Amino acid sequence: MKFFIDTANLDQIKEAHDLGILDGVTTNPSLMAKEGIKGHDAIMKHYETICNIVDGPVSAEVFGTTFEGIVEEGKKLAAIHENIVVKVPMIKDGIKAIKWFTDNGIRTNCTLVFSGGQAILAAKAGATFVSPFLGRIDDSNWDGIQLIEQIVGIYNAQGYMTEVLAASIRTPLHIVRCAEAGADICTCPLSSILGLLKHPLTDLGLAQFLKDAESMK
Ligand code: E4P
Repeated sequence: MKFFIDTANLDQIKEAHDLGILDGVTTNPSLMAKEGIKGHDAIMKHYETICNIVDGPVSAEVFGTTFEGIVEEGKKLAAIHENIVVKVPMIKDGIKAIKWFTDNGIRTNCTLVFSGGQAILAAKAGATFVSPFLGRIDDSNWDGIQLIEQIVGIYNAQGYMTEVLAASIRTPLHIVRCAEAGADICTCPLSSILGLLKHPLTDLGLAQFLKDAESMK
């Protein structure tokens, strides 16, 4: 399973990249706004900066909701850098636009996916990635992991090439469950990635080893 980081924060992207396990980045308008980025030029520059840090897919989301608007914006985003993947919402015009991008060699990430049916449409349109939001499903008192399992099952049964990019990760356990479910990629906040390191027995064991090592000096 590949690891993407789900943020537009440059320090966090650099920290995850320095770990040596980062395969890509996802952003969305909320994450970009959180960094205080304003205006077309600043947005384009920020994506370029991210692409120059991480040598892997970088999802940049369109703001438009019409076919023409999404295509126009997506072409500009894709022209920023070869790492850019155009992130398109799961709406009717979004599906049409994903098909257009597929036919024109532009990679896409179909976002805001909450059902197996939506994932089928994304794959049929040729999306490079599909993003089921498992944390938001859990937040709504449903089981997000079941959706990841369902989409992985459908894609395997049908031989779809679209990669399952589990999104809206909240905890390290989500990452482990996504790996069990067969997700191709997990896009995670830095805190969840670093959370994978933690185990109290590791801390206790290391403290004892260091103490014993000291006694042998
Ligand atoms: C990823 O593509 C999404 O933008 C992101 O994972 C959404 O996460 P959230 O539900 O924590 O906002």
